[in-house]
Amino acid sequence: MESHIEKQNGDELQKSFKEMISTLPKGKSWGFPGDHYQYQGFWFVPPFLQGALLAQQQFQALPTDIILCSSLRTGTAWLKSLTFATITRTLYDDSTTPLLSKMPHDVVPLMEFDHAQFSTNRHRGIPLLATHLPYSFLPRSIIDSGCKLIYICRDPKDTFVSLYHFIARHNKSQNTQPIQLDEALELFHEGVCSFGPYWDHVLGYWKASLERPDKLMFLKYEDLVEDTVLHIKKIAEFMGYPFSSEEQQQNVPENIVKMCSFDNLSGLEVNKTGKHRQGQGNLGMENNIFFRKGKVGDWKNYLTTEMAQRLDQRTMQKLSGSGLSL
Ligand code: A3P
Repeated sequence: MESHIEKQNGDELQKSFKEMISTLPKGKSWGFPGDHYQYQGFWFVPPFLQGALLAQQQFQALPTDIILCSSLRTGTAWLKSLTFATITRTLYDDSTTPLLSKMPHDVVPLMEFDHAQFSTNRHRGIPLLATHLPYSFLPRSIIDSGCKLIYICRDPKDTFVSLYHFIARHNKSQNTQPIQLDEALELFHEGVCSFGPYWDHVLGYWKASLERPDKLMFLKYEDLVEDTVLHIKKIAEFMGYPFSSEEQQQNVPENIVKMCSFDNLSGLEVNKTGKHRQGQGNLGMENNIFFRKGKVGDWKNYLTTEMAQRLDQRTMQKLSGSGLSL
């Protein structure tokens, strides 16, 4: 639990981080939730950079922790729901799982925002945590503890289109003017988006997964869409919660996949009408903004051939020689 002294120290640290951030190179905002600041090669909005710096100083990982890592709009909520349902399958059933009453982001806390270093901000007995931080920003204790990490990424074109709509929908709900698609594309291309450059974020985890495959599982959204059951079995195994042959005969993995499907989750009342981060200023938003289409290749409906080529060229240039394709 966060004591009074811890809170006071935390407040002082936050103040000094705020001062430091105000001196950093500034990049244009996408309209939510403010300007971007560049720190150690990546772009952040202040609340998340402050949280990152605080987590670097204070977060103590446990060897049993499982950290879900991702950039924005690459399938984080889906991965949270799948892993949460898998890990808690003996605690809850289809009618009692917290996924029915809380949106996935409220079920698995975000390390750098939800102050997950304090036990009160974590689910007791459930080892899952999430982060959007680049690999090079992870608190030292995460690497030293030997805990497991799962990273999910996605075709940069779909990631961009998803991010653009996420921000545009939020702007609409706030009656503010959304950024234009071509302007957003330029910023994304140049790496100026939260936790960007996107490609550098992916590459950091990709390289680490090659070095530590037993500790870091690297996933692509597209593969998860193609065969979710196969992947949830692999994920369960990796996390140390494998499905027994009896469970497999009873279709437990299939039922988890069904429960966490886009259609099921997006149709739940909590995800249609609930609110996320209520009372936290312009960071608060409607849960339904997090669910859009859940499709692969939706970029074709929004990007011109030139726009798509521009992002593809960037992807080829950035990933060249890495052995990774997106
Ligand atoms: P689209 O905008 O392309 O629909 P994140 O959770 O990292 O913000 O990722 C958001 C993307 O995942 C959105 O993509 C969203 O619709 C999709 N998504 C959310 N829940 C999903 C689910 N249960 N299954 C598949 N995709 C899902």
